[in-house]
Amino acid sequence: MCSTIALNNGLIVPVIGLGTWQGVDSPKEVEKAVRFAIDAGYRHFDCAAIYGNEKEIGKVLREKISDGVVKRENLFITTKVWNDDHKEEQVVKACKKSLKNFGLDYVDLYLIHWPVCDSDDVDYVETWRGMEKCVELNLTKSIGLSNFNSEQVNRILKVAKIKPVMNQVECHVNLNQKKLRDFCKERGIAITAYSPFGAPNTPGSNAGFKSTEKVALDSPIIEQISKKYNKSKYQVALRYLIDIGTIPIPKSSSESNIKANFDVFDFKLTLEEVEEIDKLDSGKRTCPAFQYKGFKYYPFDAEF
Ligand SMILES: NC(=O)c1ccc[n+]([C@@H]2O[C@H](COP(=O)([O-])OP(=O)(O)OC[C@H]3O[C@@H](n4cnc5c(N)ncnc54)[C@H](OP(=O)(O)O)[C@@H]3O)[C@@H](O)[C@H]2O)c1
Ligand SMILES: *[C@@H]1O[C@H](CO)[C@@H](O)[C@H](O)[C@H]1NC(C)=O
Ligand SMILES: *[C@@H]1O[C@H](CO)[C@@H](O)[C@H](O)[C@H]1NC(C)=O
Repeated sequence: MCSTIALNNGLIVPVIGLGTWQGVDSPKEVEKAVRFAIDAGYRHFDCAAIYGNEKEIGKVLREKISDGVVKRENLFITTKVWNDDHKEEQVVKACKKSLKNFGLDYVDLYLIHWPVCDSDDVDYVETWRGMEKCVELNLTKSIGLSNFNSEQVNRILKVAKIKPVMNQVECHVNLNQKKLRDFCKERGIAITAYSPFGAPNTPGSNAGFKSTEKVALDSPIIEQISKKYNKSKYQVALRYLIDIGTIPIPKSSSESNIKANFDVFDFKLTLEEVEEIDKLDSGKRTCPAFQYKGFKYYPFDAEF
């Protein structure tokens, strides 16, 4: 049984979600993945306009709803506004377009995908006003941020009429985000952990890693814990993220991996084990977004 976390607006989110950025996989693959995931018990799906597969995902969700397998109110659907739609009125349009793609009346969470906009001239504070409008129009139940650093989160909190419920950031055993997690926790903002395995098979990822550091999941401590609980290193990585209070969203297209990634609710790491894994932190990103380096709102120059 998947455990859940209550967001600061009372909405309940399952602590494991399916990542749907398929990298090299096709939208048809994601369709199959969503079907496997619902059958395995997943109710939380992490999507984005830029992933180009909202239509396929929506088709499966609606099929599963009409077949009586799930109820809409038991699903938690996230999607994100892309960096070319940051103006206030564009945000509402983009949200409506995502809903049309899904064939749904609302999403549960709408995120600003990045604080940076492609044209480098729209302040994300303006984008936030568009996000609030999406809540007022009942297009989404809640709104939040992704890839925002602590200073950027603070700037939003200063102006927000509606508080962000979430900051979705890269988080895994190599980059456990301790400071940003503590910062967000104090402010009632939950953390979704993206690339929970460090996106091992994505071309162009691991940009911040030396080849020897790429595979922290292969470290002896993970191996040892994995043996102790008879769980795979991937399951240990997910359990670590849950035990430090985040919401991991592993991507997989394989039925057996999708099932295995959900089979993490029958064990829990000890405090000592969490502290051992904490030591694997290298502070390096698989997703440094170098293409935005030098942009006004590039998030990764701040300490956290
Ligand atoms: N907000 C953002 O800017 C942002 C950025 C990046 C990612 N995300 C979100 O986070 C999600 C997850 O991150 P990610 O896709 O970058 O990478 P990830 O989840 O860390 O890694 C996915 C890779 O791990 C493999 N895998 C999954 N489960 C496995 C298992 N049990 N055993 C062995 N291999 C396994 C998958 O292969 P198979 O498919 O073959 O299983 C896939 O190649 C994305 O899909 C997206 O929704 C958000
Ligand atoms: C949004 O939903 C609330 C509660 O159901 C309702 O009172 C309100 O009129 C709706 N707003 C719009 C713009 O549809
Ligand atoms: C270990 O896990 C595997 C796969 O989940 C299972 O088949 C096996 O029976 C387990 N072994 C023990 C000793 O529990």
